[in-house]
Amino acid sequence: MASTITPAAASTPSSRPRALLVYKSVHHQNTAKVAHEIAGVLGAECASPAECPYARLAGYELLGIGSGVYYGRPHEELLQWVRGLPDVYARSLPVFIFTTSGLPFLATFWHRPLKQALASKGYEVIGEFACRGFDTWGPLWLSGGLNWRHPNERDLERAREFAGRVAHAGIPT
Ligand SMILES: Cc1cc2nc3c(=O)[nH]c(=O)nc-3n(C[C@H](O)[C@H](O)[C@H](O)COP(=O)(O)O)c2cc1C
Repeated sequence: MASTITPAAASTPSSRPRALLVYKSVHHQNTAKVAHEIAGVLGAECASPAECPYARLAGYELLGIGSGVYYGRPHEELLQWVRGLPDVYARSLPVFIFTTSGLPFLATFWHRPLKQALASKGYEVIGEFACRGFDTWGPLWLSGGLNWRHPNERDLERAREFAGRVAHAGIPT
């Protein structure tokens, strides 16, 4: 997966949506780098799940959820946070997902648990982004790792472009 945006949510924006990014990045800060690029475009605030009690979501117009992929899944703390989202914000808070992983061409699978949890609460996923992240897990460390220097400038440029598109899609009509 490169990135996808749901066209149905597109509108002509007059300003940026008030956005919050909630993410976990524990291996090489790969996802944090992507989050900071997206946040820069959106003017978004960033938080970890632990820093984001659900009451903090009030007033936001767009929610970004990000994670590295660990054993085929997003970080467990993030997944539990998403599973606990109250449905009260579902109609007013469109969501996008972003991940970094060793194998981002499998992002359809990596994103599935998050998408299922969001769908079960009635949240709409308006965009998805995935890119390569430097990976030195286990035996990969011996060979110098996978995806050396990723996310690189090209990945971050794609993340900024994605953020620009998602900003349009996230503007309330
Ligand atoms: C314990 C562990 C398990 C991982 N499992 C996977 C995996 O199942 N699939 C994959 O594509 N990448 C996997 N990776 C690679 C990470 O997803 C990748 O390095 C990611 O960019 C880490 O993001 P972070 O630096 O934000 O934590 C794993 C890395 C670690 C440390």
